[in-house]
Amino acid sequence: MKGGGFAAAALTDQTFGQKPSMNVTREPVALPRATQLLNHGPVTIITSAHNGRSNVMAASWAMPLDFNPPKVVVVVDSRTLTRQLIEASGVFGLQLPSRKFAAQTLAVGTNAGFAIDKFSAFELETFVAEKIDVPMLAGCITWMECKVIPDDSQRHDLIIGEVVAAYADSRVYSNNRWHFGDDRDLRTCHYVAGGTFFATGEAFDVSPAANALSASPASR
Ligand SMILES: Cc1cc2nc3c(=O)[nH]c(=O)nc-3n(C[C@H](O)[C@H](O)[C@H](O)COP(=O)(O)O)c2cc1C
Repeated sequence: MKGGGFAAAALTDQTFGQKPSMNVTREPVALPRATQLLNHGPVTIITSAHNGRSNVMAASWAMPLDFNPPKVVVVVDSRTLTRQLIEASGVFGLQLPSRKFAAQTLAVGTNAGFAIDKFSAFELETFVAEKIDVPMLAGCITWMECKVIPDDSQRHDLIIGEVVAAYADSRVYSNNRWHFGDDRDLRTCHYVAGGTFFATGEAFDVSPAANALSASPASR
């Protein structure tokens, strides 16, 4: 799978016998800004592969760890196939599903890869990663390719990954900014439990609150 080459404006999708890809432009995200994709705490999907076997699982517990080089932490249960594949290969894909992909997200989070091939079962379209030998999910809206940083945090089911490539669907993220529009299906999601998600809401900007201790009497 390696070496497919990621082109910013042109898709190089390799489907694995599934439906043809949507016409989506994936634009590179500058690596020092990559962890910004996770700042708002969305549910993620982890893809993994080793020795001809690939898998996909939902993961709510994913967070930024460092800016540059960008690092992330994911919690992957020691009993999962995902964990086995990541430990064997040293790489994983971390992507954000949109609301439109929520049912598939739930499906890959409630079915074990030991029992089924989730890519086939749920007709998940994939494309070739740029820097790792792991299929990436076409139905998502941002993608990070990660290499595992060996660390003894594994005993808490953590995996620390360095992000070596990142890109985003330009309809919702470009120039280091999320810009969710009217299409509510194209929002990221936050998982609660039992099949309930929140879709990411409206953004708003603020200036820091005034520091009452440093304000002059005249300005009070
Ligand atoms: C929305 C959602 C989020 C989840 N988040 C996590 C998580 O952060 N870490 C984890 O180990 N399992 C999580 N799970 C459970 C795994 O996705 C589930 O155990 C999955 O079947 C593991 O797949 P595998 O054995 O094919 O690797 C989540 C499940 C759902 C539905």
